[in-house]
Amino acid sequence: MDVARLPRHIAIIMDGNGRWAQSQGFVRTLGHREGSASVRRIVRACRRLGLGALTLYAFSEQNWGRPQLEVDVLMELLKEFLLSERAEMIERGIRLRSIGRIDRLPDHVRAVLDEVVEATSGGERMTLTLALSYGGREEIADAAREIARRAASGELDPEDVDERSFGDALPSMEAGPVDLLIRTSGELRVSNFVLWAAAYAELYFTDRLWPDFDERDLFEALAAYQMRDRRFGRIASPAKEAPATLAALLASGL
Ligand code: FPP
Repeated sequence: MDVARLPRHIAIIMDGNGRWAQSQGFVRTLGHREGSASVRRIVRACRRLGLGALTLYAFSEQNWGRPQLEVDVLMELLKEFLLSERAEMIERGIRLRSIGRIDRLPDHVRAVLDEVVEATSGGERMTLTLALSYGGREEIADAAREIARRAASGELDPEDVDERSFGDALPSMEAGPVDLLIRTSGELRVSNFVLWAAAYAELYFTDRLWPDFDERDLFEALAAYQMRDRRFGRIASPAKEAPATLAALLASGL
C-alpha cells in the first residue's frame, strides 16, 4: 500500500451485524455489540493512517422500522461508544460530527452526542461523522426545501444555485467528497447513503460481515482503491494522445 496515495475521505456502510450473530446462534443485538467493537478498531486504524475523514452509516432513517428492542440496543451502543471514546477523540484530535435527523434520537442519546460534538470540536486531525437517522434522499430534499425557502424570501437569487452552492447546503459534504465507499456483507447497494458526496467515490464491496471487518480488511480496501484509475469523467492522460482536429476525425468516420 502506498501511504502517499490514500483516500482523504472514506465512508462505510457497516452491514452484516445481524447475519454475523445469527450465523453463530446469537441474538441479532449481539451482532451490533460486536459491530461496535469494529467501529472502534476501524476509527483507530483510520486515524493512525492519517485519513482526513471517516463517515459511518450507524443508523438509517429506515432503521426506525426495526423492532423496538433492536432500536433501543443500537441507541445504547451509540451512547456507550460516545462516552467511552470521548477522551481518546479529544486527545487524538478527532472531531466528531453527526448528519441526519438528530432530533429523532432519544433525548438521553442526543444530549451525550451534542456534548461530545462540542467537546471534540477543536479536533483537526480527522473528522469522524456518524450518520444517524440519516437518509441521502432526505438530506437532499431537506437542502432543496431550505434553498427554495431562501429563494422565496428573496434572500437568495435562484440563479446562484449551482452544484457548489447546493453541495454546501448538504451536511454530508462538510467533510468533503467521499473518495472511497466501502460496504460490507456482500450486498451490492448504496442504500441511500451520502448520495451526493459519493458521486465520484470508488466503490468497494466485500463479503466480510461488519463485526469481522478488521485492519487487514481495511488495508485490502485501500490497496484496491490504489489500483483504481480515478478519471472523474475525463481520460487518463490526454497529453499522450496524438493531436487531432474535429474535421480530421469526422473525415475518417471518427
Ligand atoms: C447493519 O447490520 C448495521 C446497522 C443497522 C447498525 C450499525 C451499528 C453498529 C455497527 C453499532 C453501533 C454504532 C456505533 C457508531 C457504535 P444489519 O443488522 O442490517 O445486518 P444484517 O443485514 O446481517 O441483518
